[in-house]
Amino acid sequence: TVTDDFIRGLPKAELHLHIEGSLEPELMFELSKRNGIDIPYASVEEVKAAYDFSRLQDFLDIYYAGANVLQTRADFHDMAMAYFRRAAADGVIHAELMFDPQTHTDRGIAFEEVIEGLLSARKQAEEELGMSSLLILCFLRHLSEEAAFETLKMAEPWIEHITAVGLDSSEVGHPPIKFAQVFAAAKEKGLKITAHAGEEGPPEYVWQALDQLHVDRIDHGNRALEDEKLTERLGEEQMTLTVCPLSNLKLCVIDDIKDHPIDRMLEAGLKATLNSDDPAYFGGYVGDNYRAVVDARGLSRDDVIALARNSFTGSFLPADKAAALV
Ligand code: ADE
Ligand code: ZN
Repeated sequence: TVTDDFIRGLPKAELHLHIEGSLEPELMFELSKRNGIDIPYASVEEVKAAYDFSRLQDFLDIYYAGANVLQTRADFHDMAMAYFRRAAADGVIHAELMFDPQTHTDRGIAFEEVIEGLLSARKQAEEELGMSSLLILCFLRHLSEEAAFETLKMAEPWIEHITAVGLDSSEVGHPPIKFAQVFAAAKEKGLKITAHAGEEGPPEYVWQALDQLHVDRIDHGNRALEDEKLTERLGEEQMTLTVCPLSNLKLCVIDDIKDHPIDRMLEAGLKATLNSDDPAYFGGYVGDNYRAVVDARGLSRDDVIALARNSFTGSFLPADKAAALV
């Protein structure tokens, strides 16, 4: 049997976490007061009641609105520290944080405020929790490639603090190939590459992420299973998939947690990991995601150990550092 203590006690990395998606309703209210920013909810309960989604876009609309309360570097710092503390309690010893600069710069918040807040939290998490972390700058795919280039340029003074670039937001209608040039430019700068693909979008988008963006990782990848050749390719390359079960459930990628494909992924020889995506919105942190699929799919201790091991070997840490954590 796989107990809660076993899950919690197993050292793990989290590879798919949008820091803006870790903003809990309680902190949203606190920041709304601190900054004098109105939010369209009267109470924490009302906020939580609004978290009822039928698809990715339903969630994104509410997630971008929630981010409005984030104004200063202190806000980004406090949000990230809350995440680090919560993740540490789940046995996370290394976290790779995605952030969406355009969500903030497009409403007049300086890139500097965003990143300096995140960097100071990273430092505090290392000192107080012994937790290592790194940053993944994500481009919003519903915006243009030109806007992504501008964001990459804005990040230039902090580029040494950024490990990878990612691609998120509304998937369908915004295929990876739309961003081929900006990802090539990021690779030139020595950045690692990841992209959300095959969450709602078709297997074709996963092929594009591989062949046009030259990704080091795929975020989600669920729909790759619809394509046998693609599944084979992902297995052969041992491409890391950052899978997010509770997100899949809340966004109706699956109808029931009992249908989650995590064990089919492992059986197919895919290098899957478990992650929380946007824990404040999807009802659980990484430990809850392990618990959910262990219960729904009857994963063994060995499966759980394999998933945790994949989280280190699939991380963007240098290979020697990752090996030391396994
Ligand atoms: N932004 C935050 N979470 C996301 C997800 N699951 N898919 C696409 N974009 C996102
Ligand atoms: Zn995501």
